[in-house]
Amino acid sequence: NAQKPYLLTFDTIGAPDLGYIAVAENSALPFQIKRTYWIYCTPETVARGHHAHHELQQVVIAVHGSIEFVLENVAGEKTIFHLEKPNVGLFIPEMHWRTINFSHDAVLLCLASTEYNEADYIRDFEVFQALANQ
Ligand code: TYD
Repeated sequence: NAQKPYLLTFDTIGAPDLGYIAVAENSALPFQIKRTYWIYCTPETVARGHHAHHELQQVVIAVHGSIEFVLENVAGEKTIFHLEKPNVGLFIPEMHWRTINFSHDAVLLCLASTEYNEADYIRDFEVFQALANQ
């Protein structure tokens, strides 16, 4: 009964001539936020990610620029998401292998369900596949 990744649209306040505020409140998210971090100045030649998480769930937002996420679930199904709108987030459930590419100006904001815990990472794809096959 694994969860699937999906896009969510945040409430926005504003207008073209005023600018916008986008809001993410715990009550509108699939989990309670325990941590936020952001990734920036990633060279276009660098692909990040290459890991999955046992428990961590995330909502990621391209608050600037464009970001491509390739997600693979435990059934080996791949889904590609292109993030380029500051009011749209991608929910990533636990146990999804991810590869991430950034435009040169991209800023990735991550809302995370747990604090940082290296033990929650699966960094070896063969280990991920072995867990998936259990
Ligand atoms: P990682 O999650 O592997 O980033 P990416 O998949 O984008 O390459 O994190 C890179 C390094 O930063 C890794 O050594 C762990 C460390 N890190 C923290 O210490 N705290 C954090 O909250 C995060 C996200 C990473």
